[in-house]
Amino acid sequence: MAKARIAVIGAGLMGHGIAQVFALAGHEVSIHDSVAANLDSAKARIRANLRDLGDDLSAVERVHPTADLAAAVREADYVVEAVLEDLPLKQKLFVEIERNVRPHTILASNTSVIPITQIMADLRDRSRALGTHWWNPPYLVPLVEVIGTQWTSLDAIDWTVALHKDAGWREAIALVERGVCDAETVDTVIKASFGRRLAVLGPLENADLVGTDLTLAIHKTVLPDIDNRAGPSPYLEGLVAKGKLGFKSGEGFRAWSAEAQAALRAKVLQHLKKARVGDKA
Ligand SMILES: NC(=O)c1ccc[n+]([C@@H]2O[C@H](COP(=O)([O-])OP(=O)(O)OC[C@H]3O[C@@H](n4cnc5c(N)ncnc54)[C@H](O)[C@@H]3O)[C@@H](O)[C@H]2O)c1
Repeated sequence: MAKARIAVIGAGLMGHGIAQVFALAGHEVSIHDSVAANLDSAKARIRANLRDLGDDLSAVERVHPTADLAAAVREADYVVEAVLEDLPLKQKLFVEIERNVRPHTILASNTSVIPITQIMADLRDRSRALGTHWWNPPYLVPLVEVIGTQWTSLDAIDWTVALHKDAGWREAIALVERGVCDAETVDTVIKASFGRRLAVLGPLENADLVGTDLTLAIHKTVLPDIDNRAGPSPYLEGLVAKGKLGFKSGEGFRAWSAEAQAALRAKVLQHLKKARVGDKA
């Protein structure tokens, strides 16, 4: 696939990692964040990741931070948004992005759980809008789920899947909004995503790692559809109400000392790096 111009909006945990993957695959990547400190540190964080993994450090030269949203997206073939998990913020942002992109540009959101139909509801052209769900850390978990809506054109989905496969990922799974997939696909998704982490990161450790507040936000959206209980666990709500937010407060489902947090993060990264070496063998 020809090299594309990528714009990543949001330079946080996910955004800088997504930019890193595309830059390493040879694409030119502009990256934008509304918080100067997060934008200014993006290249240094990417460089540190590349160094840690023994990847080509020159990739960082293809990453171009800009504080100007319109400038970030103006020439892009593909825009992926990774700002906070907040529906009004994402809706407003995409309307602004659409005003500044070219007619063919594909618009993607990396939302964890917000329906793509809601995020893209106010766009003039919804046929080029979709979801791409990366896993943390984006440069180590080899799965990106591509989520179409009833409006998304098949061309947009095909192009997006090709873009991500070209970036070195072994599988990219297109799910339509009412998603139907076969058993092999389910296994592939699980093995290439959280299955990779399960040997060293149990589900409640993961809830503490990402934050019980994010876990609560996910449960609020997902549980009504997959469980008879129409809401999150009262136990989880109690943790958040008591300020037990996981790593960030030192306690979630379990107590986490700074040393225990660092040890778990190191263990997860070590495990994922080993899996990646296995992939290349
Ligand atoms: N953390 C995960 O494991 C994970 C996994 C998959 C998807 N996601 C999703 O990815 C998105 C980003 O999550 P994250 O963990 O990287 O969050 P984060 O808090 O690390 O980063 C969000 C970034 O967005 C920036 N931002 C906020 N408002 C902005 C605006 N108006 N314009 C530009 N930038 C703005 C913030 O300054 C911050 O740097 C969320 O939608 C989240 O649900 C997260």
